[in-house]
Formats: sequence, C-alpha cells, structure tokens
Amino acid sequence: MPWFERPFLWILRREYAGAMRFDEDESADVMPTPPAKPCQLYVHIPFCEVLCPFCSFHRVRYNDTRTARYFEALRKEIRLYHEAGFRFDDVYVGGGTPTVNPDELLATLGLIRELSPVRAVSIETNPNHLESDVLHRYRDAGVTRFSVGVQSFDDGLLAGMERLEKYGSGAGMRERLAAVRGIFPTMNVDMIFNLPGQTMEMLDHDIDALLELDVDQVSFYPLMTARTARHKMQKSMGNADESLRHAMYQRVLERLQPGYRASSAWCFTRGEGMFDEYIIDEDDYVGVGSGAFSYVGGAMYSTTFSLNHYCRRVERGQSGITQRRTLGLRERMRYDYLVRLFGGTLKREYIADRYGAAFWLLMAPELAAMRALGATRHDADALRLTPRGMYCWVLMMAEFFNSVNDVREQMREHIRAELDAWNEEATVPLKSIGRPGPEVHT
Ligand SMILES: C[S@@+](CC[C@H](N)C(=O)[O-])C[C@H]1O[C@@H](n2cnc3c(N)ncnc32)[C@H](O)[C@@H]1O
Ligand code: SF4
Repeated sequence: MPWFERPFLWILRREYAGAMRFDEDESADVMPTPPAKPCQLYVHIPFCEVLCPFCSFHRVRYNDTRTARYFEALRKEIRLYHEAGFRFDDVYVGGGTPTVNPDELLATLGLIRELSPVRAVSIETNPNHLESDVLHRYRDAGVTRFSVGVQSFDDGLLAGMERLEKYGSGAGMRERLAAVRGIFPTMNVDMIFNLPGQTMEMLDHDIDALLELDVDQVSFYPLMTARTARHKMQKSMGNADESLRHAMYQRVLERLQPGYRASSAWCFTRGEGMFDEYIIDEDDYVGVGSGAFSYVGGAMYSTTFSLNHYCRRVERGQSGITQRRTLGLRERMRYDYLVRLFGGTLKREYIADRYGAAFWLLMAPELAAMRALGATRHDADALRLTPRGMYCWVLMMAEFFNSVNDVREQMREHIRAELDAWNEEATVPLKSIGRPGPEVHT
C-alpha cells in the first residue's frame, strides 16, 4: 500500500459522506429544464434473474407480469421527456440486467431511436445471455457497445461471488465470449480486482484470458464495499486484503496499457473509435426508470426507488423524479474536476467557458494538494492525471460510488416490504447456461 493511501482515503470518506444527499420534493411535479443541446439518456432496468451478494445497485428479481408494467411506464416516461423538449444522442441502458427481457428492451430502444437520432447505445448484460441470434437483433437495433459482466474467470472466486452456478465456469464464459466476438463495434468486459481470496497469480490468469480473447474494452473495477453492504458481502465472500489493491491496479496497468489506452482510470480500450463508458463525455444526463439519477443544469435528481410508486407516477403523467438538489458553485466545480479527470484530461478551455477565473480560486486547495501529491500535471492546455493520479482517481471514484450505493441502500430500506414481495414472487428460472437452468432462490 503506498504511503498516501490511508490518509487520502480518510479525507475522501469524510468529504464524500454527504455528497449524495437529496431534498424530498414529492409535492412538485419535478421535471428538469431541457438543456440547449442533446444530452445522454440513462435507462435503468432493475431486474435480475438472481441477485449477487456484492452488488449494491438498485435491482429486484425478475417477474414477468410486474415487469411488463414497468417497461410500459419506462417508455411513457421517455415520451414525457421528449414532449418536454429533451433530445438524446447517447443512450446507456444499465441495471440490474437490461437483457432479462429482450422483446421489452428492443421495444424501448426502438422508441428512443424513433424520437431522437442516436449516436451511441450501450447495454449491460450477463454471460448467460450471450446468444448470437438475440445479439444480432440488438446490433440491428443500434447497439454500439455491449458490456458483459464477467468479474473473474477463476471458478473459486466465481463461486464466492455466487456466480459460478448462475453464469457458468470461467472456461464456459471464455467460450461464449469468443463465439460472439465482432458482433458489436465495441464489446466491453466488466472485471473486478482485489476480490476476497484473489491472489496476484489469479489476477494474472484473468488478464491472460482477456488478452487471449483480445476483447475491445475492459472495465477493471476495484471491489467496492458500500458501508451498508459490507456485512452481507463479508458473510458470503470473506474479507478482501486491501493492502494488495495498489499492486493489483499497477499490474492491470502494466499488462493492459501496451495494447490498450485508458479511456478512464478503470476502463481500457483497444484502438481508436471505440465507444466508452458513460458520464465522461456529456455535461448533462437524464436518468429514467426507478432508482435512476440525473444531472441537469447543475442539479442532481433521483427518481423513486419504489417500483410501484414509479409506475403510478408515470401512469399519472409525471416523471419518476421525487428528489432533487441544486449544487452550489464549488460542488459543481468539484464534480467536473472529479468526473473529467477520471477520463484523464480536464481542458483549460472547458474550465474557462464554464467557470472563468473563479475555478482556480475556489478549487485552489484541491488543485494544490493533488499537484503536490503528484496526482495531476498542469499542462498549458489541460490538467492531466499522472500514473499515480490514476490510482488516486480509482480510489476517489470508488468512494464516490460507495456513497451513491449507501444512498441507494437507505432509499431501498424505506421500501423493504415492496422489494421483498417482488423477490418472493420471482418466477423465472435462470436462463440456461448450456446445461439445465437451475431454479435459483436467493
Ligand atoms: C451493476 S452490474 C450490471 C450488469 C450485469 N447485471 C452484471 O452483473 O454485470 C455492472 C457491473 O458492476 C460491477 N459491480 C457491481 N457491484 C460491484 C462492487 N461491489 N464492486 C465493484 N464492481 C461492482 C460489476 O463488475 C458488474 O459487472
Ligand atoms: S446480476 Fe449484475 S446487477 Fe444483478 S445483482 Fe448481480 S451484479 Fe448486480
């Protein structure tokens, strides 16, 4: 562990503790004002066939009947934004598992493309959904980036994550990934490093597999442990050895960077012209669906985490948004500093256009501290991350996501009974992974 990691994390945890607070805004019919130019659309599909213990995203178990109502509401909410004047050029469908119902997903993508000319569409999936015929349908529906959650190819680690039974062995996933190569302009694989029990050797084997598969893009996340999910994770997976995190990240950089460029501090892309992760390119984004966040015109918004409430609101002609908070000037600067530099570069021109000289004054303590730490370089045209800075930004983003996940968990606590009912009613067996699909109960 490098000398600065502990104090740095201590400061980050203190700084991010309240970063994602919201004000209840239930009474207002909240709909942000559309920005002048097209923005990004984030679509949340909160359904999974089974639930993983390490995951703090907003998700429930899939249920055919209830899910149909949700997708109807989702499409209606997209239309409401269009009627309000929003235009979208970039779409990210995340989850949960967006591909749990391909017909509903395709109908939703069809609607979005009918309403706005869309440049890029990214969707997330799991390895048991890698079937060539459905994937071709997604490609024909405009999907440019297809992101598959693998986490690791090590069967022991997959078992600890409760994904071995669900999504198949490392060897099986490699076969399925190889078979669908080249269908999409960009195929991304999601991996996690610093898992409990993961050794450097296991990480090396994972990287060997990725290089052999020659995947277009790899997102290598550090294991994130939101405060609220810690207990559940420790029970099923054990404790991660955090002293290995830095060395593992260094290994990822050393082995991937010759052939891949860092499109963010944890996303590595082969070649130019590939489609990247979300949030970094666009100023504003709108989140639709239950438990989705938006950032428009310097304010953050959250839709309701209750799926029933979400459907009722949208059926009444309202957006799903129930909470909002307008960020102060310094908070907006900090957000831009964090998110832009996560992508590697913060252009001086961008700072001048948005904030003028005030940026250098108000952000002086952070700017000086990061420079002194050797995390950033102040070039004539832009601020840039150094290799040490990339690791600092991985830690910062992980803390930011942890604070987002804590907010998610708190919101989900209010609707525990509803979520339990959804999970108990789940009817759909896990989609086959090449052998009879087990009925998995969580
Ligand atoms: C939220 S999932 C959605 C897509 C799909 N259901 C899946 O499991 O990949 C997207 C990715 O988030 C990452 N993720 C989820 N929980 C995480 C955690 N606690 N720490 C690090 N990464 C995590 C995993 O790599 C996962 O593939
Ligand atoms: S399948 Fe993906 S979204 Fe669903 S619980 Fe597992 S990691 Fe989370």
